[in-house]
Amino acid sequence: MNLLNIIKGRRSIRKYSDKKISEEDLREIVEAGIWAPSGQNRQPWYYVVIHSESEMKRVRNYFQGILPSLEEELKKSLPRHEEIIRETLDFTKDLGNADAVILAFLQKDYEDIVGAMYDSVAAGIQNMLLMAYSKEIGSCWQTSPRFIEDELRRYYAPGKGKLVGCVTLGYALEEGRATVRKDGRVKFL
Ligand SMILES: Cc1cc2nc3c(=O)[nH]c(=O)nc-3n(C[C@H](O)[C@H](O)[C@H](O)COP(=O)(O)O)c2cc1C
Repeated sequence: MNLLNIIKGRRSIRKYSDKKISEEDLREIVEAGIWAPSGQNRQPWYYVVIHSESEMKRVRNYFQGILPSLEEELKKSLPRHEEIIRETLDFTKDLGNADAVILAFLQKDYEDIVGAMYDSVAAGIQNMLLMAYSKEIGSCWQTSPRFIEDELRRYYAPGKGKLVGCVTLGYALEEGRATVRKDGRVKFL
């Protein structure tokens, strides 16, 4: 697959099969994440890679804690999209049977440089999604765990900075929602 096909073909996947991701694939996905560009080359990410059965069970339990705030937020921001709300809440309940989760935090002292540090971690997350898809592994980027950021940091990343987002990973059991590109988002001069 060429890179544009990988970029265009990747979809957010919220239902995963029981097939396990190999340690080697997981390591390469994370490697893609640490090779992202970063503001002032600070490499401000701190990725916590969760894969063992016991730790996956624990992270699923943490995600249950997001549900009340997430439901409230989704009802406000997507008032006429009951199906998307239901799908998102269902996904949050069990992480769609994901085989692995990567939590992407900022390093503690790198939080305040005009947002560039957040952007750098976001670039790392996108790299990981694309690397996963190139290996036919499905993924979904989530920011909803920010609702329980303090709890997550306390256990997974004591002494680190903000939680930028999380990535669920697994072999897809669905195709993902079709998307179309909106008009008026590009201007060539
Ligand atoms: C910054 C960011 C935050 C997101 N947060 C969530 C989330 O909390 N829950 C979720 O189910 N999907 C989340 N997504 C996935 C988007 O819903 C998805 O990318 C979008 O609908 C386009 O679909 P696609 O990824 O299949 O192209 C997030 C995506 C991005 C880039």
